[in-house]
Amino acid sequence: MELRFEQEDDVHVIRALTDAAFEKMPFSNQNESAIIDALRNENGLTISLVAVKSTKVVGHIAFSPVTINGVQDDWYGLGPVSVWPEHQTQGIGRTLINNGLEKLKGLGAKGCVVLGDPDYYKQFGFACDPGLQFLSAPAAYFQRLAFVHPVPAGEVRYHSAFDGE
Ligand SMILES: CC(C)(COP(=O)(O)OP(=O)(O)OC[C@H]1O[C@@H](n2cnc3c(N)ncnc32)[C@H](O)[C@@H]1OP(=O)(O)O)[C@@H](O)C(=O)NCCC(=O)NCCS
Repeated sequence: MELRFEQEDDVHVIRALTDAAFEKMPFSNQNESAIIDALRNENGLTISLVAVKSTKVVGHIAFSPVTINGVQDDWYGLGPVSVWPEHQTQGIGRTLINNGLEKLKGLGAKGCVVLGDPDYYKQFGFACDPGLQFLSAPAAYFQRLAFVHPVPAGEVRYHSAFDGE
């Protein structure tokens, strides 16, 4: 499997695979592909990686800047991350996340937050942090991974592309 940054030709398949991956997720508003498009249009797609198997794009991950107490200081949000349903649980998501986090560190990121299943994200080192608040979801689902210490405290907000989509 090859991982590479998205190219112009990947935009349609990223949209389709994101819609397919989230289609049956009870927590989803089916707005994830629109968020990725909005991030791209608003210069908020810090990292957009695709996983390619035998020339087919099988997975995608996005990272975008977040603010803490209104300040952007090299913290980022992971997601959306998607794998075509028929390719799930083969390690593609894990590979995309590990590789994406390494690339984020390479950009000088201080840390990353994620909103998702703690049972899944703990394998990457994500954990809840009472000092970092995210007001739009239950605290148990909001986690962070710090690359640099000390970890800031405050209210985390995603890029405006996540608003109203
Ligand atoms: C989440 C997602 C990206 C993971 O990708 P994937 O390629 O299926 O995941 P992996 O194969 O790398 O998973 C690694 C392990 O985590 C397990 N796992 C997957 N989802 C899990 C969950 N919600 N809770 C606990 N374990 C989970 C897998 O069974 C696998 O275990 P194994 O290595 O023992 O077989 C993918 O399932 C997906 O697209 N889901 C729909 C969209 C979505 O929910 N995105 C994330 C929103 S936060």
